[in-house]
Amino acid sequence: MKPPVITRLDELETLFAGAGGQLYGGEAINQLEHALQAALAAESEGATPELIVAALLHDVGHLITGQGNDDVASGINDHHEAIGAVALEALFSEDVCQPIALHVAAKRFLCATEPGYIKRLSPASLASLNLQGGVMDALEAARFAARRHAADAVRLRRWDEVAKVPKLATPPLAHYLDIAQRVLRPASSVTP
Ligand SMILES: [Fe+2]
Repeated sequence: MKPPVITRLDELETLFAGAGGQLYGGEAINQLEHALQAALAAESEGATPELIVAALLHDVGHLITGQGNDDVASGINDHHEAIGAVALEALFSEDVCQPIALHVAAKRFLCATEPGYIKRLSPASLASLNLQGGVMDALEAARFAARRHAADAVRLRRWDEVAKVPKLATPPLAHYLDIAQRVLRPASSVTP
């Protein structure tokens, strides 16, 4: 089956208004809160608009697949990073889509290369690690590190890890959709 393609920003609004209210797989916050917290973490670090948008949308694949809260416990990998990146290609450049595509690989990379990282993963993130290929071996880690968007994906991964705080105040979705509007591919529909 061909993965869905998002062609307008208002489709993202609709996704967040629907599936975005679902809990973020095993965490104490919902998908929209997680997305906003990740985007805020990126913005607070002075990330580029493209990377802020990548942080906002890194898990949009979960919203598209409708991942259930107990899918990971049931051994289901929804491949959300690939589905999300492909779905967003019509709207955004590689500088948005590639960090999204690589953010799961970045977790596997950090587990292999940063002492103590794996111990800091949340239980849900640790549970999905094995389904996603487990810790990278040395060759995989070297290949990952050589990719053009590897450093951005690692930054995104770190924002992903901290974006799990119940009741944290963030700017609204509209604030980040304004930033997304500014980095749309030129040929895209710009319906806000
Ligand atoms: Fe995430």
